[in-house]
Amino acid sequence: MITLKSNADIQKMREAGRLVALAIQQMAEAIKPGITTGALDAIGERFLEKHGAKPSFKGYRGYSHAVCISVNEEVVHGIPGSRTLNEGDIVSLDIGAFKDGYHGDSAWTFPVGEIDPSAARLLNVTKECLIQGIAQARPGKTVGDISAAIQTYAEKNGYSPVRDLTGHGIGRSLHEEPSVPNFGRAGAGPRLRQGMTLCIEPMINMGKYDVVTLEDGWTVVTKDGKPSAHFEHTVLVADGAAEILTKAG
Ligand code: MF3
Ligand code: CO
Repeated sequence: MITLKSNADIQKMREAGRLVALAIQQMAEAIKPGITTGALDAIGERFLEKHGAKPSFKGYRGYSHAVCISVNEEVVHGIPGSRTLNEGDIVSLDIGAFKDGYHGDSAWTFPVGEIDPSAARLLNVTKECLIQGIAQARPGKTVGDISAAIQTYAEKNGYSPVRDLTGHGIGRSLHEEPSVPNFGRAGAGPRLRQGMTLCIEPMINMGKYDVVTLEDGWTVVTKDGKPSAHFEHTVLVADGAAEILTKAG
């Protein structure tokens, strides 16, 4: 069942979303060669705590951190710790906030210092995949319209959307129906209605789409070892263009 949110629900989701966006901003400001992923996680967690929110991911299926931090060929669900970021890395910060009964969830991939032009292109194309996906999130369209827009834009640029992981509905639970794949057919899947809240989150590989999960049980990496990027927003299907809930302003 896909839940439709009331205005009161949406108001709370705006606040959770705003805190997520600000937490990412705070962490992003600290990104520099030499910082550990554990230090970035601590910044994100402290920020949410200070603003009366709980990290959505901590305790979720046994995950024990506030942030998923994934570097280079790591696609998603990287575990923060003693790893140091180096000049030229790309790093994805994925964080969820739970406040007043509702979740917000967003991810952004950042350059560490100067990065290779090929990596910069991957970041730009993946960000544009998210924008193209969000543009389809309108009443009357379908989940497949979002999926197809993301896949088309990624593949046109020579990249591969990951197939084993998807976006999702969100609200009182971090993961709700529907699943929002990053590949698919226009017109397929559930019809979108005003009041649905979705996490649209393209995970785009520079090489092939295949991924594997490491021994730690969490970190998803590309099978070919090439870089991957991840951008995610929580959005509201509204009357007209979708409202991005995970924005700072
Ligand atoms: N943002 C991810 C998602 O949308 C992260 C959740 S996995 C967790 O599903 F275990 F870390 F919570
Ligand atoms: Co998500």
